[in-house]
Order: sequence, then C-alpha cells, then structure tokens
Amino acid sequence: MAGNWKMNGTSTRCVELAHAVRAASDGVAAQVIVAPPATSLAVVSGVFAGSPVGIAGQNIHWAASGAFTGEIAPGMVAEYAGFVLVGHSERRQLFGETDDDTNRKVHAAFDHGLAPIICVGETAAQRAAGATDTTVAGQLFAATDGITAVEVERIMIAYEPVWSIGTGAACDPAEAGRVAGLVRGSLEVAFGPGAGDVRILYGGSVGPANVRGYLAHEDVDGALVGGASLDPAAFGALVRAADEAA
Ligand code: 13P
Repeated sequence: MAGNWKMNGTSTRCVELAHAVRAASDGVAAQVIVAPPATSLAVVSGVFAGSPVGIAGQNIHWAASGAFTGEIAPGMVAEYAGFVLVGHSERRQLFGETDDDTNRKVHAAFDHGLAPIICVGETAAQRAAGATDTTVAGQLFAATDGITAVEVERIMIAYEPVWSIGTGAACDPAEAGRVAGLVRGSLEVAFGPGAGDVRILYGGSVGPANVRGYLAHEDVDGALVGGASLDPAAFGALVRAADEAA
C-alpha cells in the first residue's frame, strides 16, 4: 500500500503523518510505502528508522549531478529512500516528461540502488479512442527499455488511468485488473517468467470504500494512493485492507 503525498506538507506535517503511518503499519504483513515531498525525505526517513515501511522519492533527474537547477539527483533521494516514483502522469502531463525521460530515470534509479515504481496510464481521450492498451503497453515498454531480467524483478508498475486521478472517478476494478493483467503478461513476454511476479498497483481515487475491489483482483497487488494517503485514518484503513489481502 503506497501513499503518494504529492506536493503536500511542510516537514512538521509530514513528520506527523509519518508517525501515524508508522503506528498503522505496525505488525502488518503488507508492504507499506510513503512518498513524501523531497524536502521531507530526511525527517520522514528518521521517523521510519527501524521500521519496514518503505520510502519513495516522487521524482528524480537522470543525471548523477550537475548544473540542473531545482532538480534532485538519484543519489540524493537514495540517501533516504529505497524507491522512487517514475513517470507519474502529473510529471508527464504538467511538466512535459516523455517516455524517453522516464526510461532514463528508470536506469538512473537502478544505477543508484533505487527501485523504480513506474507509473503508466491512459488519458480520457486515449480511452475514448480505444487506445488504452496500446498507450499503456507503449509507456511500459518505453520505460523498461534496456533493463535486465534481474532488474525487472525489482520494479513495481502503477497503473493509474489519468482520468481517475483526483477525480473520484475510480476505474472499475475488473477493468483495472484487466489492464494490470495486460501489464503482467507484457512483462513476461519481454523479460521472461521472473517478470510475472512484478508487483502491480492500481492508482486513481482509491479510498477505504473501494480498495478491496482492486485488491481482490489477482493481478492487482496493491494501490498507489494520493488524496486518501494524506488522511491518517483513511490511510490506516487502506493499510489494514492490504494486510487482510496479504
Ligand atoms: P488520488 O488517489 O488522489 O486519485 O491520486 C492517485 C495518484 O496519482 C497516486 O500517485
């Protein structure tokens, strides 16, 4: 169960939220991950010291260092986190990130010991045009181009239909599961049977009331949650649902 806090929370607020997540995750079998804003990675990692809760960056640059004002190098995130979101639709839609950028970031993540959580998903227009599967497969193959069969086992894929993010228009669980199955099958064809175990998350308007529908699908291993991850009670309920499913 992964919470993407997006651009929310001063360090003080993030520390409070992290303490709540730590308490909610105590003794659960499901893997819990939080993705705080970059400015809070250090303090949040302190809260989770000695806890199995994973920490993710929300974005990285692909270069190891250099003259990239305002960017965050993979090694900077890796000081505090084991994971990094790559290719989130907000990066693609609002900041012009391309499939090629996403691929460079995936390689940079591996080079610095970070496991990438690769986000894919179609827009409403792409879905209406019947291009959901080709869009998702295209993003998936572009992002994973050139990675090894060993590396692929460390990735997670988050299927996040763009039209469902922050809208309340959650994807039908059967349809989310169908696309997750397509992702799994495509990875197996490309990388071999080991890729069949890649963890696949659904994201888009997930909350305590609908999460079980997604987790019940055999190809959906968890959720990547935005809005509801900022509410400690809601995220606690999501962690409990994931724990039941695990
Ligand atoms: P919401 O849960 O707010 O729809 O956001 C989903 C998301 O983008 C997680 O990365």
